[in-house]
Amino acid sequence: RHIHSEDVVDSTQKVAHRLVFEGASEGTIIIAEEQLSGRGRMDRKWHSPKYTGIWMSVILRPNLPPAKAPQLTLITAVAVVQAIEEMTGMTPEIKWPNDILLNGKKVTGILTEMQADADRIQSIIIGIGINVNQQLEDYPEELRPIATSLAIEYGKKLERAELIKVLLVKLEKLYSLYLDQGFYPIKLLWESYAISIGKNITARTITGSISGQALGITDDGVLMIEDSHGIVHHVYSADIEL
Ligand code: BTN
Repeated sequence: RHIHSEDVVDSTQKVAHRLVFEGASEGTIIIAEEQLSGRGRMDRKWHSPKYTGIWMSVILRPNLPPAKAPQLTLITAVAVVQAIEEMTGMTPEIKWPNDILLNGKKVTGILTEMQADADRIQSIIIGIGINVNQQLEDYPEELRPIATSLAIEYGKKLERAELIKVLLVKLEKLYSLYLDQGFYPIKLLWESYAISIGKNITARTITGSISGQALGITDDGVLMIEDSHGIVHHVYSADIEL
């Protein structure tokens, strides 16, 4: 596999898009020490200061229909949880679809971008941002109540290179398990780490909000919420409030 290791980039997602365009193969990875304009979901910025976190994009080219793309985000979330667990002994929680929390604060975000035609995924770029060695004072004021890092929660700094290694091993294992046996085994793992299942939540989508009980995810990785009338809604993309 190819690993592109960069010092400063605007966004590893952007670099990955360029590499995809140039024909990069499955498993190509882009890692940067710093991102000048790291991107999050919903057009948000992702704070990516130098030498403190893991800012990485992974290119996959699964031979699958586009509707399966959300599953790859969920696979990645499970891989990150397992890697953090192995490195620290702490078990983070997953907030659907892709926030990873420690003690209720965000430690990792995942951003999945896909190029596809009507029936096949051409490529999928999975961006992973892990806050590793930041201290609270490294965060801008407005992020302090909601963001954390592994070092803050664990009490000491971690070797980023080691965490990257562990993460890539986990990701590769889960991805082959998925290609081999489908989504079901991943879904069980994912649900075992998810916080919102069984709880009352509000999902804010671009078209409005849905409140109700989170029932779980479908086999495609879509969130199911049952409202107070017993109607089950399928949510493809939203922000969740607990
Ligand atoms: C989110 O929670 O909104 C997703 C954040 C994703 C951040 C990562 S860092 C590496 C990759 N490059 C980016 O610009 N964004 C993703």
